Amino acid sequence: MDRILIRGGQRLAGRLPISGAKNAALTLMPAALLTDEPLTLRNLPRLADVDGFGHLLNQLGASTSVEGTRPDEFGRVMTIRAGRLTSTEAPYDIVRKMRASILVLGPLIGRGGEARVSLPGGCAIGNRPIDLHLKALEAIGAELEMAAGYVRATAPGGRLSGGRYRFPVVSVGATENVLMAAVTARGGSCIENAAREPEIVDLCRCLVAMGAKIDGIGTDMIEIEGTDRLHGATYSVMPDRIEAGSYACAAAITGGELELTGVSADDMGATLSALTEAGVRVEPTRDGVRVAADGPLRPLTLSTAPYPGFATDMQAQFMAMLTLADGASVLTETIFENRYMHVPELARMGADITVSGRTAVVRGVAGLTGAPVMATDLRASMSLILAGLAAQGETSVTRVYHLDRGYERLEEKLSAVGADIERVSDG
Ligand code: UD1
Repeated sequence: MDRILIRGGQRLAGRLPISGAKNAALTLMPAALLTDEPLTLRNLPRLADVDGFGHLLNQLGASTSVEGTRPDEFGRVMTIRAGRLTSTEAPYDIVRKMRASILVLGPLIGRGGEARVSLPGGCAIGNRPIDLHLKALEAIGAELEMAAGYVRATAPGGRLSGGRYRFPVVSVGATENVLMAAVTARGGSCIENAAREPEIVDLCRCLVAMGAKIDGIGTDMIEIEGTDRLHGATYSVMPDRIEAGSYACAAAITGGELELTGVSADDMGATLSALTEAGVRVEPTRDGVRVAADGPLRPLTLSTAPYPGFATDMQAQFMAMLTLADGASVLTETIFENRYMHVPELARMGADITVSGRTAVVRGVAGLTGAPVMATDLRASMSLILAGLAAQGETSVTRVYHLDRGYERLEEKLSAVGADIERVSDG
């Protein structure tokens, strides 16, 4: 199994290119199921999850072809052709490994009036139900049947009616699913308390490029007028604001300076404000955002929240950074109940963190020391990489497959800006 080996203590400096957003890619790919014409996605990141989603689309009868980019370039172009679907089922084996697979539910029912999707079960960061996905689909006319760990959703008469749904809790995935189902409904739909994440805006823009009629994009009330048919389109995946935020923390924790190219500061509001509050210099540039740290890091009080709040997907990376701040920080995780699995690993590197319920108190220490550590989920893994970059000595991060799900060629990007990092294969 592969692991990542880091010899810490190098200051990072230079330009670091940001890839297409994983979470946007994973909702744009299923959108291709809504039309029998090709959907071409540019700037798709090269990630295990994107490959996994491609396989799922293939199982449903869609073809995927990748063109254009050389192996040494980041990103790629994929054309998805869902001319005729041969299956409407997302099986347990795939959903279990990749939770985002449930995002085929909305488009499948929108396209053909039928979908069968395995219930995802738990995952490393807690119990992640899909009740809101189902309630929202029901509200726009789907009939649901549960059996043998699967949910079967059908549209009476082959087409959803449309309808109104107000989310009791903001959910990114459920908003995406109901949006994709509603665009081809017979009537109109209104989604209230919708998630406003930039990835949802990206999905809406792509759907509009495919002929969908959507109002209120980027707000918490999205109105959709159903259309008979969507057509093909070519669409470029937005840059990954979480990858960019992670590398911004890498600059901060190493006292370095990075220009993160290709990213938009507008999508990163809460992350950049938190960095500024921690004493990190942040400035938008023509090509992206420059982040520079030269003094001591200041402690922060942060609470995760739906967009435009501070992202739960940035919590672990900030925690790593704040282990070296000048004082005590307080982090509160409000989105997922079990998202502190990086804490014991960071403690093994010398961090001083106390968790009580949903709150973690991080007391800054003078330095971290390298250690063998184990990745537990995607963002937790990144927090260990960040700690390793700043630690004295050698850090070895195992279970690298978590990182490969969400960071395109991490070790290449980091070594190009001065990190001493490599992937080693233990056979
Ligand atoms: C997406 C992101 C993930 C990010 C999360 C929150 C993708 C592929 N993943 O996940 O990286 O951490 O948003 O920003 O885009 N909930 C329910 N019932 C449901 C659905 C959700 O109770 O049916 C709860 C969840 O348990 C959680 C909260 O709602 O507590 C938010 O989850 P949600 O926004 O749905 O996260 P995902 O879409 O799964």
